[in-house]
Amino acid sequence: MTTATNILIVGAGHMGSAIARGLKQSSPSMAIIVVEPNPDRRAEMISAGFIAEEGMPTSLASEIIILSIPPQAFPSFSEANPHIKQYPGMIVSVMAGITLSELKDRLKTPQLSRAIPNLPCAINEGMTVLTFTPQATKKNIDLVRDLFTKLGDLFIVNDEPLIDSATALVGGGPAYVSYFAAALVEYAISAGFDKTTATSVTNTLFRGTSILLTANSEPPMSLCERVMTPEGTTQRAIHFFNEKQIRNIIIDGLKHACTRSRKLGRRA
Ligand SMILES: NC(=O)c1ccc[n+]([C@@H]2O[C@H](COP(=O)([O-])OP(=O)(O)OC[C@H]3O[C@@H](n4cnc5c(N)ncnc54)[C@H](OP(=O)(O)O)[C@@H]3O)[C@@H](O)[C@H]2O)c1
Repeated sequence: MTTATNILIVGAGHMGSAIARGLKQSSPSMAIIVVEPNPDRRAEMISAGFIAEEGMPTSLASEIIILSIPPQAFPSFSEANPHIKQYPGMIVSVMAGITLSELKDRLKTPQLSRAIPNLPCAINEGMTVLTFTPQATKKNIDLVRDLFTKLGDLFIVNDEPLIDSATALVGGGPAYVSYFAAALVEYAISAGFDKTTATSVTNTLFRGTSILLTANSEPPMSLCERVMTPEGTTQRAIHFFNEKQIRNIIIDGLKHACTRSRKLGRRA
């Protein structure tokens, strides 16, 4: 597979820096430049070994540009950097909500991909859902596939609206899992464990459960039921969750996130 050697990441916030760090780890020889207006974040990236610029370079020599700025900043970014319209390479947007059609309109290129990665990309354990324009060349598709494969697992969709669902599921996923983990830590502390032990026990619970689910290719509810001894202790907790409709609440929360992603796209 074709491998990119030269990448430009615009926006080194949470997601942009996670992508940069994951790529550096998996491909130390890859040239990665980040563009980041915030001086503190720029300094952080420089101390992590990246080249960090305040603004877009005048000459765009990378094979791939990754746009990782807030969706609300995209219109002003494209207006402030008209030279990006002459860029001959592949542009990957990880911005929530900005459609391929809007990207094409503002960037004047059909060599585009929308990707929704997540923060575990920083440790090469990420999940990315991607789509491409029909005009994206095979070479560019291969470059992007290879790039995100270095950051973890990859799933390609042809149906662009699924990218908004992926924004809710994949982009936000680590937040929901961490939210649940925070509740377990809070319970453990309230039950008398110190914070370090509570956190460490919870992290091990998540790691072990995730490995077990993957190893057994097991539906999550089947593992859940294996823990629930009839009339036992776990069953009490799960019954309480069910009474409170926690699963429906979670599903509705993700639907709200998906709607928000679609709304961000209509904003400009
Ligand atoms: N966080 C996630 O887990 C996640 C997952 C999937 C997708 N995404 C998408 O990734 C994008 C970035 O999210 P984030 O969480 O990383 O946000 P973030 O932490 O706020 O980072 C965005 C960065 O872009 C910088 N920026 C703003 N305008 C810029 C410009 N014109 N040129 C260059 N840099 C600019 C910001 O600098 P200032 O702070 O100085 O403005 C900030 O450092 C968003 O579009 C989001 O939808 C995020």
